[in-house]
Amino acid sequence: MIQAAFESLDQNIEKQYVPVELDFIELDSLCEQNIYLFVQDRFVLYRGANLPFTLQDKLRLEKAKQNKVYIYCENEADLRRFYESNLTNIIESDKVAPEKKAKVLYQCAKGIAKDLFEKPTSTETIQRSRGVVDNTLSLLSKSSDAFVQMISLSGHDYYTYTHCVNVLTLTVSLLSDLGYKDPRFLKEAGMGALLHDVGKKKVPIEILNKPGKLTEEEWQVMKRHPEFGAEIVERARMPERGVDIIIQHHERINGKGYPHGLVGQDIPIASQVVAITDAYDAMTTNRCYQKAMKPFDAMRIITQEMKGHYNPQVVQKFLQMLNVKNKLQKK
Ligand SMILES: [Fe+2]
Repeated sequence: MIQAAFESLDQNIEKQYVPVELDFIELDSLCEQNIYLFVQDRFVLYRGANLPFTLQDKLRLEKAKQNKVYIYCENEADLRRFYESNLTNIIESDKVAPEKKAKVLYQCAKGIAKDLFEKPTSTETIQRSRGVVDNTLSLLSKSSDAFVQMISLSGHDYYTYTHCVNVLTLTVSLLSDLGYKDPRFLKEAGMGALLHDVGKKKVPIEILNKPGKLTEEEWQVMKRHPEFGAEIVERARMPERGVDIIIQHHERINGKGYPHGLVGQDIPIASQVVAITDAYDAMTTNRCYQKAMKPFDAMRIITQEMKGHYNPQVVQKFLQMLNVKNKLQKK
């Protein structure tokens, strides 16, 4: 059976036609891909990639009860490109269900995070991350359900890419709850959150995925990932606030963090927030060396065992935010 398009990204796509909803396609823009219809048991070309998909096209297809079209994808990257180029339209559309918006956005953000890890110095990928952060802010500002939907998509297994998307969602939501509403501030912080661990690209995989405890030598290499990250984005026009987050997300307000042992308010608020959201998401997902903790247990560690590491006001707001999320999930 052909899966709905937004679900297809969870599977391997190999040279196949994938259905997409008409409402997903941005009108009057070039689609980048050919658009096909499924007529009498075969796929037929409807619109070439070099022609815009117009309102008339859409109305004509709706009238003919064709509420889906197809794009031909060699692999997942092709489908992801389709979503990315139509993402703003999908997020802003009144006709796309909120949970579908969250799914598409989550998949796009995950894809960009993956590309960022594979080609971290690519200016183009950094630019794409601006788009996905903008759309995340836009979706999250529409309703508190969007936050719950985004966070619920993560599952319990830790993957570098999903972790980055979760940290992005938690960070911009928490900053907004703390009263930081300036879109530019949130966007720059969001980019830093999405890319906070990009420096792990330079940490050998044996160290990153080691099931047991790291040796002192290995730990010294691991601790360099914030600085590696800053070096990686240096030439990619990353906003300064984003670079600060990459370097400072392991700093702790009691000075026990790394790499610089910064204390208290010397750590900017956005970096203080990422320190908490990063730790929380890492604890609540399965890792090669540790099973996922329940949110309650992770928060107990953050508030009690790691007392002094984090800004208590920020931790308090984070608790409130997660409580609201739990209530919404039980609705
Ligand atoms: Fe990190």
